[in-house]
Parts: sequence; C-alpha cells; structure tokens
Amino acid sequence: MSSTNSAMIVVTTVAEDEPAGCLVGFHSQSGISPERYCLWLSKANHTYRVGLRATHFAAHFLTAEDCALADRFGTQSGEDTDKFAGLEIDSSPHGVPLIASCPHRMLLERIAVLDAGGDHVCLTTRVLSAHAEGQFEPFRLSDAGHLSPGRSSEERAVQP
Ligand SMILES: Cc1cc2nc3c(=O)[nH]c(=O)nc-3n(C[C@H](O)[C@H](O)[C@H](O)COP(=O)(O)O)c2cc1C
Repeated sequence: MSSTNSAMIVVTTVAEDEPAGCLVGFHSQSGISPERYCLWLSKANHTYRVGLRATHFAAHFLTAEDCALADRFGTQSGEDTDKFAGLEIDSSPHGVPLIASCPHRMLLERIAVLDAGGDHVCLTTRVLSAHAEGQFEPFRLSDAGHLSPGRSSEERAVQP
C-alpha cells in the first residue's frame, strides 16, 4: 500500500457541540452518480466516537505545505487535547468545523455505516458540496512517515 502513496485528508465532524477531527489515509470516492465518498475511521479514535453521533463531516485535502496540520490532527487525540485551539475555523451549515487554511474540501452527509468487525469502520457519505482552488500537490503517506498516530488501533474498546 505504501507504493500507492495515498493522499492524506483531515476529517472533521461535530456532535452535540463536541468537535472532533483526525488525519485519515483510508478514504475514497465511491460513486459518480449520485456522488458518494467513503471514509474509514479507527474504532480507537475520539473522532470515531463523536462520528457515531454525527450526521455531517468535512474532508479537507491536505497539500504538501500542510505538515503541521497533519501532525496536529494525526498525532494527538481529541480525548485529551483541543486540536482546534488557535486554528481559524470557517462556519458550515451543520456546525462541522471547516479549517480555513484548507480550501480544498468537501462537506459530507453520512448515509451508512459498515462495521465489518475490524479495527476501522466505513462511513458512506453523500457529497453535499465540494470546493477546490485549482490543482495542488497533495500531502501524501510518504510525507507522513515520521508521524505516530495519536491513538493506536489496539486502544479500541472491543477487540475483533
Ligand atoms: C499516516 C496516518 C494515517 C492515518 N490514517 C487514519 C485513517 O485512515 N483513519 C483513522 O481513523 N485514523 C487514521 N490515522 C490515525 C489518527 O489520525 C490518529 O490516531 C489521531 O491522533 C486520532 O485522533 P482522535 O483520537 O482525536 O480522533 C492515521 C494516522 C497517520 C499518522
């Protein structure tokens, strides 16, 4: 999989005024008409726990300049830190925090959840809106090699 060198995104969400977000490498367009997008969240993550109660998500596509954001969202847990502190946040119709410095992003509505019994759960979403400011060089898996995930998948509450 490292040879495919996938692009990294930051997924954010909110439930009952509790914001959450994490770095995500498991994601893909999964339909054209209608437009569908899938995200896979680790059961160990704070973002997963908030996401189970959430209806809307944002997918921010990181650029090669976004190493600090990848570090912030990928190596700390919202369980014990406020990842949004000091960040400029744009408002969105459903309260999902939008990171102002990431203009390449989509607003998503969850329509299905699939727990296949593993360490990650698949969220299938409807694309509500998408915004990009031209072409960009993505922040990729190979750029994230030095980052240690804030939550390891062994930390999930129930082992498969
Ligand atoms: C390169 C890299 C890729 C990652 N991909 C995913 C992923 O696809 N899904 C996921 O839920 N977590 C993924 N993570 C882990 C989370 O981003 C990380 O554990 C984060 O600190 C969890 O934060 P939270 O507890 O606030 O949700 C990845 C981390 C790294 C460093």
